[in-house]
Amino acid sequence: MNYIIGIRLGRMGRRWLPWQPMARVFSGIQPTGDLHLGNLLGAVQNWVQALDGEDDALYCVVDLHALTIPKDPAELRAKTIEITQLLVACGLDPQRCTLFLQSHVPAHAELGWIMECTASYGELSRMTQFKDKRDRAEFVSAALFTYPALQAADILLYDTDRVPVGDDQRQHLELARDIAERFNARYGDTFVVPEHAIPAVGARVMDLQRPDSKMSKSLDSPQGTVLLTDDPAAVVKKFKRAVTDSDGEVRFDPATKPGVSNLLSILAAVSGRTPDEVAGDYSQYGPLKADCGEAVAELLGPVQARFAELRDDPAATHELLMLGAEKAAAVAGPVLARAQRALGLVPSLTRRG
Ligand code: TYM
Repeated sequence: MNYIIGIRLGRMGRRWLPWQPMARVFSGIQPTGDLHLGNLLGAVQNWVQALDGEDDALYCVVDLHALTIPKDPAELRAKTIEITQLLVACGLDPQRCTLFLQSHVPAHAELGWIMECTASYGELSRMTQFKDKRDRAEFVSAALFTYPALQAADILLYDTDRVPVGDDQRQHLELARDIAERFNARYGDTFVVPEHAIPAVGARVMDLQRPDSKMSKSLDSPQGTVLLTDDPAAVVKKFKRAVTDSDGEVRFDPATKPGVSNLLSILAAVSGRTPDEVAGDYSQYGPLKADCGEAVAELLGPVQARFAELRDDPAATHELLMLGAEKAAAVAGPVLARAQRALGLVPSLTRRG
């Protein structure tokens, strides 16, 4: 329905419909490093929430994106399966959403090339994630530079209305919108222009030891990063040792009190409150750290139990990924064909019999 309405009326026309059409939700995650609390609170928690409504949600483990920095093949394979299992354990029920691997749907790479032809060199040069990664990488691949074009393809392939992500993806999402608008202006209304959905709380979870850097799979900070697989004692200990400041006042003020504000944001995101509300409950850092640790350990308990079950049955994970890829390809194929037609590429005719 989304596809038909999207192409016939475009976004502007949809606004005047007497009923609210189903929205398409899409997001992705790289199978690199270990899933951490930032991924959960900034993104995955909202992916799970989207399953409660009428929306049609697709979630992709973006293994092609992971290749932009050379990886050990065995590790990439294992991480890809592990992250899929963790996503299911977090609540991404494959019966209620489409969960798949990017490399299983070749349309991503095909539209990725078209997006590279639509994004400008200047736009890609301004991406802060590229500049950060370029400065840290031993080998700067061409794909590290064109990465956001492939990300735009991921999103636009599904006529996506909404993309739930953490704050660090804001610039990539703005670029995806610009690319879609440019393509539509050049070749006619082809793509739905997506909106980002960045949560009010938890969009930027900071490292517990270095609260001026975001918690990250690649930041080498084991004590500052809370992994989804950390056991409860480790979680409590990491929060207990979290870096704060010396003025002793519990107040939400990210600019001058990044450590304490990070703890308040985490507890707020876990308990569905605002950081200021949480701050009202505390006058000392010790109890705030302890409650944070306990709340997070409690949140992770059921995820870890479910993950342990899924890990025992890798064949079931491969099966769900195969079904997910079939469902995703059925949506992506017609959108890719629409873009190819708009560009003037001659459709290929396959000979039968
Ligand atoms: P990735 O794999 O780095 O992160 C996955 C999601 O987790 C969010 N996130 C955070 N949120 C809050 N605090 C943090 N410290 C934190 N760290 C990570 C990210 O914002 C993201 O939503 N380029 C993307 C993957 C991607 C994608 C896409 C996303 C590829 N194609 C299409 C959306 C749509 C990335 O590297 O995310």
